[in-house]
Amino acid sequence: MLIAIVTGASSGLGREYVRTLDTRELDEIWVIARRRERLQALAEETATPLRILACDLTEPAVLRAIEEELAENHPIVKYLINAAGFGKIGGFSDIPTEELCSMIDLNCRAAVAITQMTLPYIPPTGRILQVCSCAAFQPIPFLNVYAASKSFLLRYTRALRSEIASRGIHVTAVCPYWIEDTEFIAKAKNTKNSTYIQNFPFPQEREDVVRRSLRGVENNVEIVTPGLIPFLHRILAGLLPHSFMMAAGKLFHRH
Ligand SMILES: NC(=O)c1ccc[n+]([C@@H]2O[C@H](COP(=O)([O-])OP(=O)(O)OC[C@H]3O[C@@H](n4cnc5c(N)ncnc54)[C@H](OP(=O)(O)O)[C@@H]3O)[C@@H](O)[C@H]2O)c1
Repeated sequence: MLIAIVTGASSGLGREYVRTLDTRELDEIWVIARRRERLQALAEETATPLRILACDLTEPAVLRAIEEELAENHPIVKYLINAAGFGKIGGFSDIPTEELCSMIDLNCRAAVAITQMTLPYIPPTGRILQVCSCAAFQPIPFLNVYAASKSFLLRYTRALRSEIASRGIHVTAVCPYWIEDTEFIAKAKNTKNSTYIQNFPFPQEREDVVRRSLRGVENNVEIVTPGLIPFLHRILAGLLPHSFMMAAGKLFHRH
């Protein structure tokens, strides 16, 4: 059974990846997110059968259950796309500790666990796409833990790519910038005080990010920066001291 696994499939980028993979002659797409009804609605749209795994990826028992599902079915995983993730805008006292830890659990722990458990089922023609962020390129005050979590995921992905290069599997990190046509920003702003960071100019569109990143993983690109702004951000954050980048970032602060 040839399959794709997409986390965060109930909205935004994840759902768009599923719609795009629907044309790739897969036997099934395994879709993971908490909102079952959203995944069921998506299943009505796609020609490819969806296996709905409605669950909370921050729960360790859920990760074990997914591992068991893999062991029972022995699929060939052509695509693994880790798109589930969330961020929170605010100062350290604006976001409850529990939420910060949950962000790390989802953006880092679950992404690593899903990747590790899926690797035995990925053939040499397989593709792994980790949805990171431009936030991974530098520390970002008031988006602190989110940026750190994406930096972790980017580094994990790059090192994994190098480790398994001889297996032929393409491993790509995509680092988008500010995407307004997903649910991410509204959720990120839902904190005690999210006014520190204003909306960034020239937002990206999810369809464009999905198209560019799938093209990138097909071509075995290590890091996809889908657009001029994420590309420039990556270059500048690589060349300039992070203290300078953080000071420059104050231009986007409201106070
Ligand atoms: N939008 C941006 O500006 C932007 C920029 C750079 C990077 N990104 C990254 O892109 C990825 C996709 O975000 P998006 O913009 O598409 O946002 P989104 O529309 O909010 O999608 C996030 C997805 O993650 C799922 N999810 C959240 N918590 C979960 C949990 N505990 N267990 C399982 N699934 C969970 C959500 O589904 P349920 O709520 O149904 O569980 C949803 O399907 C994220 O990793 C994000 O960090 C976004």
